This record gives sequence, C-alpha cells and structure tokens, in this order.
Amino acid sequence: MKDASAFISFLVFFLLLCSPWIAASLDDPQYDHTAYTKCKEEPEKPLYNGGILEPHQLPQFASSSPALLLHNLTASTKYSFSSWVKIESSDSDSALVTASLRTNHETYDCIGTVAAKSGCWSFLKGGFTLDLPSNSATLSFQSSDGRYIAIAIASTSLQPFTDQQWRRNQQDMINKVRKRAVMIHVSNHNGDRLQGVEINVKQVYKDFPFGSAIAKTILGNEAYQSWFVERFNAAVFENELKWYATEPYPGQINYTIADEMLEFIRANRIVTRGHNIFWEDPKYNPEWVQNLSGPQLESAVDTRIQSLMSRYREEFVHWDVSNEMLHFDFYEQRLGPNATLHFFQTAHESDPLATLFMNEFNVLETCSDANSTVDSYISRMRELKRGGVSMDGIGLEGHFTVPNLPLMRAILDKLGTLRLPMWLTEVDISSTLSKEAQALHLEEVLREGFSHPSLNGIMLWTALHPNGCYQMCLTDADFRNLPAGDVVDSLLGEWRTKEVNGKTNEHGSYSFEGFLGEYEVSVMHGDQTANSTFALSQGVETRHVTILL
Ligand SMILES: *[C@@H]1O[C@H](CO)[C@@H](O)[C@H](O)[C@H]1NC(C)=O
Ligand SMILES: *[C@@H]1O[C@H](CO)[C@@H](O)[C@H](O)[C@H]1NC(C)=O
Ligand SMILES: *[C@@H]1O[C@H](CO)[C@@H](O)[C@H](O)[C@H]1NC(C)=O
Ligand SMILES: *[C@@H]1O[C@H](CO)[C@@H](O)[C@H](O)[C@H]1NC(C)=O
Ligand SMILES: *[C@@H]1O[C@H](CO)[C@@H](O)[C@H](O)[C@H]1NC(C)=O
Ligand SMILES: *[C@@H]1O[C@H](CO)[C@@H](O)[C@H](O)[C@H]1NC(C)=O
Repeated sequence: MKDASAFISFLVFFLLLCSPWIAASLDDPQYDHTAYTKCKEEPEKPLYNGGILEPHQLPQFASSSPALLLHNLTASTKYSFSSWVKIESSDSDSALVTASLRTNHETYDCIGTVAAKSGCWSFLKGGFTLDLPSNSATLSFQSSDGRYIAIAIASTSLQPFTDQQWRRNQQDMINKVRKRAVMIHVSNHNGDRLQGVEINVKQVYKDFPFGSAIAKTILGNEAYQSWFVERFNAAVFENELKWYATEPYPGQINYTIADEMLEFIRANRIVTRGHNIFWEDPKYNPEWVQNLSGPQLESAVDTRIQSLMSRYREEFVHWDVSNEMLHFDFYEQRLGPNATLHFFQTAHESDPLATLFMNEFNVLETCSDANSTVDSYISRMRELKRGGVSMDGIGLEGHFTVPNLPLMRAILDKLGTLRLPMWLTEVDISSTLSKEAQALHLEEVLREGFSHPSLNGIMLWTALHPNGCYQMCLTDADFRNLPAGDVVDSLLGEWRTKEVNGKTNEHGSYSFEGFLGEYEVSVMHGDQTANSTFALSQGVETRHVTILL
C-alpha cells in the first residue's frame, strides 16, 4: 500500500513536471495557416512535423506519379494536407500538378494543386474530408494535363482535425480577429473612481461587411428594403451596373435604375461593391458590343469606363474591373493581351480611392478547374502588378456545391500571403442540392470565411426575384425564412455583441469582449447619467474607454 501511494505521488509529481508537454499534447492541434507562394531552392519543414505521415511513407525518388499509402482514414475528419513539389523532367520547366485521393469507396479528383517548376520547390496546400471511412487510400500527384513528367515531393504533411477541433480553431480565430477586449472606466470630475455604476452597452454598427446582392426588385418594395436593412451592412447590384443593363443599345446609356438603388444604399448606411465594369465572358456583353472590333470596340470601351466611373466616382468601395478573366478573354482576343491592364489603369485614374478587384469563380470552390487554380490567380495578379496596377483586391465568388473546407481554408491561406483585401463576393450553394443541404453547406462556408484572418468581407448571391434567386434564396416571396435564411439570421445574431449590462467594480471599471464595430454606452449612478459612444477597431490590445460622470 505504502509503495503504491509513493508511486502515485511520484506519478503525480512526474505529471506536474511534464504538464506543459501533456497540456500541449492533450490540447487541440492548432491549425497552421502558413503558406508560401514563392518557388524555393529548398523545401521548408513540413507543417505539423508531417502530422500523421511516417517518414517511411514518403517516396524517395521522383516519379510520374508519386504516391502515399494512407491507412485508417475516418469519415468527416478534416484532413489538412501540404507538400513541396518539384519537376524533375529535363524537357519540362513547369506543370500544373494535382494531388488526388483514391479510397476503397471513392475517388477525389483534386485535393490540391500547385504550379510546379523545375529547379525549385513549390508549395501545394489542400485537404479533404471523406464521406465514408477508408482503411486504405492512395494519395497521388500527377501532371494535370496527363503528360509524363517526373515529380519530386518533399516535406509532405497530413494533419487530421475532428469536427470539434476544427470548430474550436474557428472560434479561436473569431475571438482573435473579429473581437476585442474593452475596459470601461467610470470616474467623477474629482478623479474618484466610481464603483457600482450601472453600465449598458449596445453595439450599433458592425465593422465586418456582410451582405447580399440586391436587384431592382428592391425598388419600391418596402418589405424587401426593411428585411435587407435589418440584416446587412453591405450590398452589390446583381446585374444593374453591367454593361448590358446600362447601355442595352449603342449610345443609349441609362443609369436610372442604378441611381435609384444607390439612393436606397445611401439612405441606410450600406457599403456597395461596383460589379462590374467589364465581363470577359462574351455572352454577357451587350449584343452590339459582341459585334464590334478594333477601333470601334476601343472607343466603346473607353466611353463605357469614363461614363460609369465619372458618374459613380467614390460611390463604390470596390470595382470588379475585368470579371472572370481566368476563364474568358473577350477583350484580350479583340484588343490585345494588355486589355485588362489598360482597364485597371483607367479605372484607377478615374477613381483613385476605390479598391480594384479581380473577381473569379472556381478558385475557392474547387481545385478541379485548371483555368482558375489558386496559383494561376496569384500569377495573374502579379502580372498586373508588374504592369503598374497600384491597388487591387482578391474577389472569390464562392458558388459552391458541396464545399471542401480544408481545401477552402488552404486556398485562403495561400491567397492571404499576398496581404491584399480579400472578399467572398457571390456566395451561394447550388440549387442541385436540397434546401436543407444548401443551408448546411452555407453555414460551413460562412463560418470558414468569417473565421479566416485574411478575409475582409462576405457577400451572398441571393438577390430576390418574383421567380426566385440565382441558386439559393434566403426567404420566400413574403420574406419568411427558408432554411438558408435561418442560417444567416442565426449567424448574424452570433456575430454581434449582445447587449451588455453590468456594474463597475471596486476599480471603477467594467470589461467585456465585443465584436468590432460601433457602440453606445450609458452609465447610471443614482440619478446621474452619462452617454458616450466609441468605435472598436482591430487591434491586439484592450481598448480602454473612459467616461466621466
Ligand atoms: C488500421 O486499423 C486496424 C483495425 O483497427 C488495425 O488492425 C491496423 O493496424 C491499422 N493500421 C494502421 C496502419 O494503423
Ligand atoms: C431609362 O430607364 C428607365 C427605367 O427602366 C426608364 O423608365 C426610362 O424611360 C429610360 N430612359 C430613357 C431615356 O430611355
Ligand atoms: C450583330 O451582327 C449580326 C451579323 O452581322 C447582325 O445580324 C446583328 O443584327 C448584329 N446585332 C447588333 C445588335 O448589332
Ligand atoms: C479552360 O481552359 C481551356 C484551355 O485553355 C479552354 O479550352 C476552356 O474553354 C476553358 N474553360 C472555361 C470554362 O473557361
Ligand atoms: C503590355 O504591357 C507591358 C507592361 O507595360 C509591356 O511591356 C508590353 O510591351 C505590352 N504589350 C503589348 C502587346 O502592348
Ligand atoms: C442617456 O441616454 C438615456 C437613454 O437613451 C437617456 O434617458 C438619458 O437622458 C441620457 N443621458 C444624458 C446625460 O444624455
């Protein structure tokens, strides 16, 4: 007995000694946002020390399809995956390399891509979630166009997160980047701190832009307007600024609808994105523009950009300058390879303080679209920058079907290294899914977006028309919530500071954590009251607010 208790006290002592290590190992794994976009002479160390990969699992030699054998993968676990990749073929300088996964049950065509080069290492970051567990799976790398190219991989890593761990990591990031600690001090004019003062704090404005597309259907529709204003602080016109809407016939420019929509915006303290100046998809250009070429097109393009931007200078927070340029090239085909560069330069001269955005689909939604990989987006941005474009932002449309959340986060990580404004600009979930599935996946995407430290705003693509919405409506025609609307309402409630009521302590102070935004404070002590306002902007230190009573 005695020996046993001695052993137990030794064990307790030992555990205490080792407690930092034990705490760390029992704690959730911290998600690692690290990403690289430069090709490096040597690969960096693997994230998470390789995670659950054993060194012997890694192939030693370059092959046309290096592969890892993975055992005992579990369903619904979020697997974050990364690797350094290099081309070893003498006849090829670069290739798009795709990582894919085959389990006993399913094939995942793309769990990550990288624009790999010969002579240096490039960083691939992606991930996956399985629908069914798999005791044996093959993760392999191939050139995406099927060419035989020797590929070397190094510093490969696979880190699993349970749903709870993933969720707690999101919550940690939300606390860190969307909230801040506030300390309110109350004293009187003699400099005495006042204890027991009743404090009431209300958040009256949210900083994080969260909104939706609107359509001209909102004009004159008071129910739609108040529904919108109660929820959102950001908007974008679904179609009403597009060239085909403002100039359906040559020379017949008409901004009546856009002007009326802007009046609604201005009257309600909403920020608006300017969408879009040009659209590279030929079929969305006015028919008469599709018929133009050479100097005629040049002149039409100049007239469009001058007219639009002189009228709306300083009204829109962003301009989508050249919509969907990774997939289409209407203007480059007709005006030469620098057409987009020219648009950006003209837009910048016309509205120097607006942020000029690229806006693209299938960069974030999937990695299976070879036209719009994260690396091709980045290299297009760098190209424009080299051409002299001075301000730019990253627009990610976000038209999802079933989202791959670890991949989505990995892509945001990679784009985040550019340190540019980055927004989700057109979020919805495909109408091929049930309303319930749309709601479920919408919540996943919105949480992922709001908790990502590099994301600056979120727009839904849910403009309401009598016959429905593009892919997903939040409500029916009478503004009764559909499942997706319930999700949005519940997140809007979660991402705002609830009314705070309390009393100052013996130091005359009271503290709380609040979402970034604007606040009204009232304090009351006996029959004395005072009111104040303050703004809570991003910052790592506690915001101190002093009120005199
Ligand atoms: C996978 O799980 C099975 C059953 O639990 C176990 O026998 C096997 O050793 C595991 N394999 C690996 C590589 O961990
Ligand atoms: C401009 O558009 C508005 C709204 O559609 C329309 O009422 C008006 O007649 C148009 N103006 C011209 C000059 O075509
Ligand atoms: C475009 O060109 C086609 C073929 O020349 C012609 O039939 C059509 O009327 C033109 N459309 C417009 C809107 O100018
Ligand atoms: C993607 O790129 C390929 C090859 O450049 C092209 O043929 C195809 O039309 C593009 N697809 C889309 C949707 O842009
Ligand atoms: C495009 O712009 C770049 C950078 O300004 C310039 O070097 C190049 O000559 C231009 N190309 C054409 C075809 O005008
Ligand atoms: C502070 O606001 C409250 C509630 O709005 C009001 O009743 C009170 O008179 C205000 N006090 C001062 C000093 O303005």
